[in-house]
Amino acid sequence: MNQNYSKFGEKFTRYSGITQLMDDLGKANHSHDQDIIMLGGGNPALIPEAQRIFVDELKKVIDAGAGQMFGYYDGPQGSEVFIKALEQMLNDCYGWDLDEGNIVITNGSQSSFFSLFNLFAGEMADGSQKKVLLPIAPEYIGYADQGLSANMLVAVRPKICEFENQQFKYQIDFDQLKQTLKQENIGVICISRPTNPTGNVVTDDELARLDNIAKSNNIPLIVDNAYGQPFPGAIYTDVTLNWNTNTILCLSLSKLGLPGLRTGIVIANHATIEAMSRINGILSLAPSSVGPTLLTRMVKDKELIQLVNTVIKPYYQAKADIAVQLFNEIFGNSSAKLHKLEGAFFMWIWFPTLKITSEELYQNLKAKGVYIIPGHNFFIGMDGDWPHQHQCIRINYAKEETTLRKGLEMVYHEVF
Ligand SMILES: Cc1ncc(COP(=O)(O)O)c(C=O)c1O
Repeated sequence: MNQNYSKFGEKFTRYSGITQLMDDLGKANHSHDQDIIMLGGGNPALIPEAQRIFVDELKKVIDAGAGQMFGYYDGPQGSEVFIKALEQMLNDCYGWDLDEGNIVITNGSQSSFFSLFNLFAGEMADGSQKKVLLPIAPEYIGYADQGLSANMLVAVRPKICEFENQQFKYQIDFDQLKQTLKQENIGVICISRPTNPTGNVVTDDELARLDNIAKSNNIPLIVDNAYGQPFPGAIYTDVTLNWNTNTILCLSLSKLGLPGLRTGIVIANHATIEAMSRINGILSLAPSSVGPTLLTRMVKDKELIQLVNTVIKPYYQAKADIAVQLFNEIFGNSSAKLHKLEGAFFMWIWFPTLKITSEELYQNLKAKGVYIIPGHNFFIGMDGDWPHQHQCIRINYAKEETTLRKGLEMVYHEVF
């Protein structure tokens, strides 16, 4: 590595474990080997009917001139007409009272988190150091290296609630969480719901308790809704979506099947939106206009919600049902356990009796052409001394059933 890089350069050019993993997945995705079984990666499914509707919409935009799509800069807050359409849609759907000052557009959720984490944590203006608190780990790996300061994340080890049918669910350990809030200087709390990698959807009650804790500690609560409502709506439990001026709700167009658009949406109080807009201006002048121009009409006419309810959500729900069936068929009567499949499109499988680490399991499966994600990468902001951290894997089940079956059978034979 270049010795003349800054601290920023050193931090952001580091070759982390997950970078290595993504390199592996990228190579496997582009290989011509027909026998590779790809169950890693977080790409949404290309749902043919949804893709057709997006391409038709693109043609309409092109026929109308397309100038707004790439010929002009939006303001740093993002496309005004898109923000207006979102505001109306969200107020109608959830009875909120948003105005245009409550929404900012970014170049994808990943860049929303970079701005938000470094706004509320790290080296503060008064010289103190603050951290981002993750109430539950495992948590989304993309948060891991976002801080401009070192060691900016701290996570709380969850409680494990076990059910019949070899299923389990992580729950927030509120006693530990309160302890962490006392011991560490926390600037912001962040949770993904549904959670990548586990498919967990923290309950309304858990979220309400987090909301109260955040308010009483005078810090914001970020809820990462990349897989949630209103789009792509990949939630299979009965939960509600709430927002208040202490909540920062992050949405994304990616999991609708549009990750290439790089469009994120942040809903927050006026001061946070103003701050995020200014960061947008400095980092990128303006967010991309492509996603907003493509989807403004569909948001305004509520066609996007209809597409979610009639095509996208049912597609993922059906895949989730198949995933649970296959797990029961293949792993039934073994010691393997499946995290309750409540949202997103991942199976999180725990092997309490695993004789090797999840990393070794990954390597062994890779040698046989099966790609999964070893779970230890997702226990961010925690010490590595909990054996459970090395006993889990993540599988993307938004695949053809035959591919998923074959892959799960190979995992079974490797472990048992
Ligand atoms: C939980 C979660 N949040 C955020 C993102 C980032 O999404 P994007 O930057 O594409 O909007 C992802 C991507 O996989 C994710 O899984």
